[in-house]
Amino acid sequence: MATIKFKEPSPYSKPKPRPPTEDYLYKIFEDDWSLKSGADADIIVRAAIFGVGRAGTIHLANIIHNPRMKLMYIVDDVEANWPKMKKHYRLNDVIFLNSKQADKVFKDPNVDAVIVSSPTHTHEYIVTKALEARKAVFCEKPIAENREQTEKCFEAARKAGRPLFTAFNRRFDPSYNAVRDRIRKGEVGHVHTIKIVSRDSPMPTIEYLKESGGIFHDCMVHDIDMMTWILGEYPIKVAVQASANVPEIKAINDFDTVVATLKFPSGTLGMIDLSRNACYGYDMRLEAFGPKGLVRAENEQPIHCVETMYNYNGPNTAPIWYSFPSRFRLAYQKELDHFIDVVLGKCEMTVKPQENLAVSKIASIFEESARSGKMIDIPWYEDELPK
Ligand SMILES: NC(=O)c1ccc[n+]([C@@H]2O[C@H](COP(=O)([O-])OP(=O)(O)OC[C@H]3O[C@@H](n4cnc5c(N)ncnc54)[C@H](O)[C@@H]3O)[C@@H](O)[C@H]2O)c1
Repeated sequence: MATIKFKEPSPYSKPKPRPPTEDYLYKIFEDDWSLKSGADADIIVRAAIFGVGRAGTIHLANIIHNPRMKLMYIVDDVEANWPKMKKHYRLNDVIFLNSKQADKVFKDPNVDAVIVSSPTHTHEYIVTKALEARKAVFCEKPIAENREQTEKCFEAARKAGRPLFTAFNRRFDPSYNAVRDRIRKGEVGHVHTIKIVSRDSPMPTIEYLKESGGIFHDCMVHDIDMMTWILGEYPIKVAVQASANVPEIKAINDFDTVVATLKFPSGTLGMIDLSRNACYGYDMRLEAFGPKGLVRAENEQPIHCVETMYNYNGPNTAPIWYSFPSRFRLAYQKELDHFIDVVLGKCEMTVKPQENLAVSKIASIFEESARSGKMIDIPWYEDELPK
């Protein structure tokens, strides 16, 4: 009877508790349950997707499952996959084209938006053609292979008055968002150090890597974007070391392992630890440290119910997510939703062209530092800096 004194009145007699804001999945459920789309439910964005490989498969599934988007065209050169794709996703009213027939998409006035997830070297052509045809564009990172081409794409967007969205999917991840919010609220004070661990899994194919544009523009751009987006400032000095431990990667003059150190104008020091291949899963971690404490985004473990298993080898826990389609599943859905909101004029695009150009500039200087072995100062013009 020691605890009977703590007995409470019936929960029905108290106000219904609200779910914690951290339960982002319950929030989605509540939006669905309350049938929120309401008055503009008949407004949809009609879309074409270019490239259905690793990234395109994620976007294709999200487009099909998004009630605010209607898929009209799939453009991809692996024609042998078309019948299977049609069956798997029940795509009877979608038109399949190869890349030589892509003009049909640009000429179709019913297409509002183009999703680009083809190899990076094809982006500039598809993006500029789509924008010239006044389509809104959602493009996988990097927008193009170098800064000049990227600038050309944004110039085409400016001329057309249509959005060109860079798919920096990690910005839409709830954990990274929470870390940014807490840092921006000053929970750790002025950030003294910020560290990112970014290790890919599984190892991409060598065919992909040959066409990827190199580890700095293909991979590191995500981490540069994350760090600068959180801090709201750009580095003024960087020193980068890179190695090719895998002979096939060395043979194509690329790297598989990179360590970058960055000095920011406010005094914050950044570290990025990047690898193409973590054998234990997709290792994505971030921590910011300051005078008031530490805030950290750890790896997620999909199976939570087996917290720890003990045997003669010591304690074991569940594996982390294997790769980006699972770790960032929700982020990919949310970035597509954001793009739809932008196309429908409901909000401003959160990934700004200047931010993309700054990330691309930093990635090129990282590569220069790694190849020359030198620490490099980065000059910034006023109009390049974060607003
Ligand atoms: N944000 C992310 O998490 C993420 C992850 C992986 C890849 N990516 C990016 O996505 C892009 C594609 O990478 P991937 O790994 O999916 O490559 P992939 O090789 O798996 O797929 C590319 C697909 O594009 C098709 N294709 C080739 N040329 C085309 C053209 N001209 N028009 C239309 N389709 C064409 C190919 O047939 C293939 O199906 C790259 O820019 C890459 O950097 C982003």
